[in-house]
Amino acid sequence: MKADVVVLPGDGVGPEVVNAGLSVLAAVCDAADIRVSVEVHPIGGRAIDDFGTPLPDETLEACKAADAVLLGAVGGPAWDHLRGEQRCEAGLLRLRRELDVFANLRPVKVHPHLADRSTLRSDVTTGTDLVIVRELTGGAYFGLPRGRTGTGPDEIARDSIVYSAAEIERVARVAFKLAQSRRGQLISIDKANVLFTSQLWREVVSALAVEYPDVALTHELVDSFAMRLVREPATVDVVVAENLFGDILSDEAAVLAGSLGLLPSASLGASDQGLYEPIHGSAPRLAGRGIANPYGTILSVAMLLRHSLHRDDLALAIESAVDVCITEDVLTADLGGTTGTDAVADAVAREALRHLGARTGAPW
Ligand code: NAD
Ligand code: IPM
Ligand code: MN
Repeated sequence: MKADVVVLPGDGVGPEVVNAGLSVLAAVCDAADIRVSVEVHPIGGRAIDDFGTPLPDETLEACKAADAVLLGAVGGPAWDHLRGEQRCEAGLLRLRRELDVFANLRPVKVHPHLADRSTLRSDVTTGTDLVIVRELTGGAYFGLPRGRTGTGPDEIARDSIVYSAAEIERVARVAFKLAQSRRGQLISIDKANVLFTSQLWREVVSALAVEYPDVALTHELVDSFAMRLVREPATVDVVVAENLFGDILSDEAAVLAGSLGLLPSASLGASDQGLYEPIHGSAPRLAGRGIANPYGTILSVAMLLRHSLHRDDLALAIESAVDVCITEDVLTADLGGTTGTDAVADAVAREALRHLGARTGAPW
C-alpha cells in the first residue's frame, strides 16, 4: 500500500507538533508496510515571508493531488497587522474551501486520568465522549458581501452569514451517519430565534430526520447549548453546527478534555481525501521550546489513517497508545507534566508498535 501525504507545518508550534505526528505516522506505516511519501509545503506566515502569499499555488496544487494533508497551525504576532486576504488565516480558509472539505469532525473525549486537569469538576466531565461536526466551508467565514467601506465614524465593516439548503444538507448527513455509528443522538445547533440562516438550517436538518429513524434529533439554541456543554457534557453524543458556532463550541469543549492541545480534527468532503489538523492555533508563547502538546496532532494522524487511508487498525493502535501514555503520565506542561513534545511522540510510537505487535504476533 502507498499513500501521498502533504504536510503543512505552518507557524509557531505547528512544525513541532507536526514533526511529532509524522514520527508516529512513520512508525506505524513502516510496521504495516505502507509506503508513505511525505511532501512538505509552506503555508501561513512562513509562506507570506518567503512567497508573499499565505497559500502559494504550489502548496495548493500539491494538497489537491494528495491522499491526505496534515497541517500544524498558522498565524502569529509577526503577521497580525495584515488584513483581509493577506492574513495567514485567509490562506487556511482558502485551502479548506478549495479542497471542499465541508465537514470538520472534532471529537472530544475526557481521559479518566485527566479528569482533574479541567477547571470543571471531574464529576461533571467524567464520561464525556462527544463529536462536534462543524460546517467548514460556508457561513460567516465566506459569505458575501463582506469587507470595509467608508472612513472615520462612517466606516462600516460587514460580514455575511450565507448558507444554501444544499450546504446544510450535506454536512447534516455526515452528522446523522456519525450518530448512527455512535449512540444515536444528534443535537443540531442554531440561533433560529433570531437568524434567517438558522431558520433554514433547522428546517433542512428536521426534514432529513425521517431518513435516519434510528437517530434521535433535537435542536438547541447555541447560547443555551454553550451552557449545557459545560454543565452536562457526558449527555452529549453528536453535535452539528454552522462554521462559526462550531469553532467557538469546540474551543469551549477543550476545557472538558483538560487542554486545547489534546484535540484533533478531520476535515472531510465528498472523496476520501481529507485535511487533518489539531484544533489549536500556533501558540506563539510556546513556540521553539519543545514543550507543546502533540497529542492533538498525533490523534489527527490517527484520523488520517482511519478516514483517508482506511486503516482503522492503525488508527486504533495510535489511539490506544495515546490512552496508555496519558495513563502513564506522559504529559506536557499544559497538563502539569514535564515530558517534551518529541519524547511524547517517541512514547506513543513505541506503545503503538507494541499494540500492533501484540495483535499480530509480529516481532516489532
Ligand atoms: P492558540 O490555540 O494558539 O492558543 C490558545 C491557548 O492554548 C494558549 O494558551 C496556548 O498556549 C494553548 N495551546 C494551544 N496549543 C497548544 C499545544 N499544542 N500545547 C499546549 N498548549 C497549547 O490560540 P490563539 O492564541 O488565540 O491564536 C494564536 C494564533 O493561532 C492566531 O494567529 C490564530 O489565528 C491562530 N490559529 C490558528 C489555527 C489553525 O491554524 N488551525 C487555529 C486557531 C488559531
Ligand atoms: C480553527 C481556527 C481557524 C478557524 C482560524 C485560524 C481561521 O480557529 O481551526 O478552529 O476559525 O477555523
Ligand atoms: Mn478555532
